[in-house]
Amino acid sequence: MSLKQTAIDTLSKNDRGRFTIPTEGLYPYQWNWDSAFIALGLATYDMERAWAEIISLIEGQWPDGMIPSIIFRSDDTDYFPGPSRWGNTLGSTPSTGVSQPPVLATIVRQITEGPQGAARRAEVFDQIFAWHKWFHEARTVDGIVATVHPWETGRDNCPEWNIGLDLMQVAPDLPPYTRMDNKHVDPSFRPTQEQYDKYLTIVHFGDSIGWDQRRLTDEGPFLMADPNIHFVLLRADKDLLAMATEMGKPADIRDQISAWIAKGEAATDYLWSDDLGAFVARDIRSGAFSTGFSNCSALCFYADSGTHMQRARTIENLKRIAGKVEHLLPSWDPDADGFEAQRYWCGPLWPQMNYMTARGLDEQGEAELAMQVRNGLCDAIEKSGFWECFNPLTGAGCVGSNFSWTAAIWLSWQHETKLEGVA
Ligand code: DGY
Repeated sequence: MSLKQTAIDTLSKNDRGRFTIPTEGLYPYQWNWDSAFIALGLATYDMERAWAEIISLIEGQWPDGMIPSIIFRSDDTDYFPGPSRWGNTLGSTPSTGVSQPPVLATIVRQITEGPQGAARRAEVFDQIFAWHKWFHEARTVDGIVATVHPWETGRDNCPEWNIGLDLMQVAPDLPPYTRMDNKHVDPSFRPTQEQYDKYLTIVHFGDSIGWDQRRLTDEGPFLMADPNIHFVLLRADKDLLAMATEMGKPADIRDQISAWIAKGEAATDYLWSDDLGAFVARDIRSGAFSTGFSNCSALCFYADSGTHMQRARTIENLKRIAGKVEHLLPSWDPDADGFEAQRYWCGPLWPQMNYMTARGLDEQGEAELAMQVRNGLCDAIEKSGFWECFNPLTGAGCVGSNFSWTAAIWLSWQHETKLEGVA
């Protein structure tokens, strides 16, 4: 069977009607940025179904504008922490109490391009605007968009978060729990028990304050700035502004988005580590910088942000890392402490990060590196199939198999470039 057909079959197998799960067993619900990337893949062959994916994601939006990281339409005993552990969250459908990197505006703009997409853009503009507003208000501290949970960044156990996690204590009254992830996959691929205790401590705190998002930001146990959320949101704000302009939205809406963009551009410098020559995470309360180049460090290109010097040093780092791995782009610097080629965000290559990084590099005139980043993923897929992530040293698949966003991104690239053998 062709890879294209396998990719379509993977999406069909994970299709639950109006939304798509990432993979059976390990992740049985709708995840936020997964759904957006899945829509990108679906749009290459079934626009109606792609649009249903986006609408079902938006249905999970809270009254304050947040679109949560997971929408729980059932209570699946195979997954922990499910809806009962998150407690009384505030949307009309049970969900987590944190968000995820807001890729939606960028993907909506891309798949609805042209006059025939105008009605669809109009259908979701206000909800996406409200979500961005939520990031800029409920999650902003002194002009920096913060994050309150490693799960919100989408990069769960990246060593970047150790600074914030080390400053936290596990809640003494943390209710006991049983992890389910380690029943589905090899525990050496997943976060440690100590990390899980801290993840659950933040959930416990959020539940104890009724998921008041401003309090979660100001008083929560973890407060860091994430280059992934920062650059994804900055890019998404720019796409939102472009849509607002095309749609003839009133000046106050356009001015508001322009102000978010100006704020975002100013904040890019906050994440710059001159020692590392890289954009890295920072603990907001202590100011401490993370210690390595990650697979969101080069998203400055995707967001079209950063100075000439910052971009040049980012390229130097990418080239150095290309010499260390078989498959760009590892999630953590192979020269930094904490690199583990198979452990989730401590080393593996992640499809959605390669997608955004390659797109940014391409748009900013770095076509050769963009191709290397694309090939890093495509070669791993050809070798191993549609996995959640891949060992960057060997291309072996890690964690979840038959993975939706991997299939979707592969389809999207095939559609754009027509490079692969078409079925
Ligand atoms: C998980 O369960 O591993 C997810 O990444 C949390 O969003």
